[in-house]
Amino acid sequence: MNAEVTTPSLSGRNIISISDLTYDEIILILETSKSFLEVSKREIKKIPTLRGKTVINLFYEPSTRTRTSFEIAGKRLSADVINISEKSSAAMKGETLSDTSKTINAMNADALIIRHPLSGSPYIVARNIDCPVINAGDGWHEHPTQALLDLFTIKQRLGLFRGLKAAIVGDILHSRVARSNILAFTKMGIEVTVVAPQTLIPKDVQRLGAKVAADFDDVISDVDIIYMLRIQLERMSRAYFPSIREYCRYYGLNQDRLRNAKDGALVMHPGPINRGIEIESEVADLAQSTIVEQVTSGVAVRMAILYLILSGEPVE
Ligand code: NCD
Repeated sequence: MNAEVTTPSLSGRNIISISDLTYDEIILILETSKSFLEVSKREIKKIPTLRGKTVINLFYEPSTRTRTSFEIAGKRLSADVINISEKSSAAMKGETLSDTSKTINAMNADALIIRHPLSGSPYIVARNIDCPVINAGDGWHEHPTQALLDLFTIKQRLGLFRGLKAAIVGDILHSRVARSNILAFTKMGIEVTVVAPQTLIPKDVQRLGAKVAADFDDVISDVDIIYMLRIQLERMSRAYFPSIREYCRYYGLNQDRLRNAKDGALVMHPGPINRGIEIESEVADLAQSTIVEQVTSGVAVRMAILYLILSGEPVE
């Protein structure tokens, strides 16, 4: 019996978790992103593809890069992008997220992008709205577009995924980026080891497909990607390690430690970075660091996602 061959399509789909996407769908997003990277390098950085579409950016948490990146992505595709922040929303007047979603739905939005401090909020929104919902980070849960832009950056630099090894280092417990990246990296064939003090490792992390290590120096010489995370002090209700100094000593990426890494190993970070805490300032600025490039990738990948969800056509 012949298995049916289907071309991947993201038309009309929600992107809330990396587990919503197959290997082939991720490849489609990354291939499409390549064409859109080129648009951002043009003198006139705008194409008419999403003219007449309305994209809502609903942000209940502070954000510079993600919000701006989605806004630029929508505008470069000629969509009308409306930004709603917590302070300017009716949530301040006590409206529930379901009611805010129904209100936006009544205005016929074509896509809704949501960032929210509570895990699972995008699912509530999706239940109350007819258009696709894109998760731009929900609590400790997921940040799928970050993982996709990270994959795109890795592909641009290293050309492939299968056989690579990555260490994701730091505050895994509070990090939606870590969850999405473990799922995305392992799906594409990258082996992931999370490195953190025991107190910052979630119990289910092995179930997601990652190995666990406590000693950064044991792992650093073996990986192609060193992915550093910010210590999310704003999400910590108690002390998870003795002091910032102690944390830096064991889990910070400095030049000394980097000397033991493979030549050209990528240094990645989702931003915002805390120079001198999880990453030494000089290390953040090395040529092997992709931190600024990840931001550029972010616009291309978000253009690809909006395009694939709203137009449904593969690019020529
Ligand atoms: C991340 C986030 O908000 O989850 N930042 C981002 O979107 N680039 C990571 C972080 O805040 O540390």
